[in-house]
Amino acid sequence: MKPFLKWPGGKYRQVDRIGKQLNGGLRLVEPFVGSAAVFLNTDYRRYLLADNNLDLINLYRQLQEEGQTFIDYCRNYFSGKLNQSEAYYQLRKKFNLSRNRRLKSALFLYLNRHGYNGLCRYNQKGTFNVPFGRYDQPYFPEKEMQFFHTKSRNALFINAGFHDTMKQVRKGDVVYCDPPYAPLNTTARFTDYSSGGFNWQQQVELAEWANKLSRKGIQVVISNHDIQSISDLYQQRGANMDQFRVRRTISCHADNRVKVGELIAVFEP
Ligand SMILES: C[S@@+](CC[C@H](N)C(=O)[O-])C[C@H]1O[C@@H](n2cnc3c(N)ncnc32)[C@H](O)[C@@H]1O
Repeated sequence: MKPFLKWPGGKYRQVDRIGKQLNGGLRLVEPFVGSAAVFLNTDYRRYLLADNNLDLINLYRQLQEEGQTFIDYCRNYFSGKLNQSEAYYQLRKKFNLSRNRRLKSALFLYLNRHGYNGLCRYNQKGTFNVPFGRYDQPYFPEKEMQFFHTKSRNALFINAGFHDTMKQVRKGDVVYCDPPYAPLNTTARFTDYSSGGFNWQQQVELAEWANKLSRKGIQVVISNHDIQSISDLYQQRGANMDQFRVRRTISCHADNRVKVGELIAVFEP
């Protein structure tokens, strides 16, 4: 099943490939859950799903708790008259000012489907600032939300940075990590997820966690760009590598579709 959110770096098209690498286990832990493509397309008994984007996690909790009532509430924001530039900027402002979790979550979905390219970007002050997307008829993902709600019975959602999530990993868990990509070149930006970005030091710390947990008997799988610095980082810490190419939109330009190298690093116990 497809995720109900558009998400930069979403792995929906790679779920079979990733799933083949994941060992069986009682619980799958995802420290960078994003649109949750791997959660939705695997079959573990339980899930610990984390992300440092609070708006994303609040939306998942709201849908988990309320199900269809919340879905019906969200549908109100998908009427044609709200698919206009003026309405979009008003609702974006409302989202940025609101402290009401239910309203904010519905607006987060609205912004995701009506904003430019499904981007999720905040300024330094934490204000969501993606421009209007100009789509003819944004899709309301009802069946995808219903599927998510049903599956979320077995999930715990937490708003956490990856260090805190990794500290909660236990024997019997399997960990799938999909961090923000390391940039293909030094001029590429890769901070389009939530304020804060993800730097080289964090890529190194994540690889250290993977190595440490695998030595404790826990499998860790990481997706990233297939660039020399990243494959060296993982290989030096004992990972096996699945390297392949995908057609993908890079940077913010929808017409900028090129084939880029991706890898899945597997840190076996
Ligand atoms: C490549 S996306 C994950 C995509 C996901 N696998 C999917 O299929 O949609 C990376 C995610 O990591 C989150 N993130 C960025 N920095 C983080 C950090 N330090 N700790 C935890 N999550 C982080 C972002 O909010 C984003 O949702």
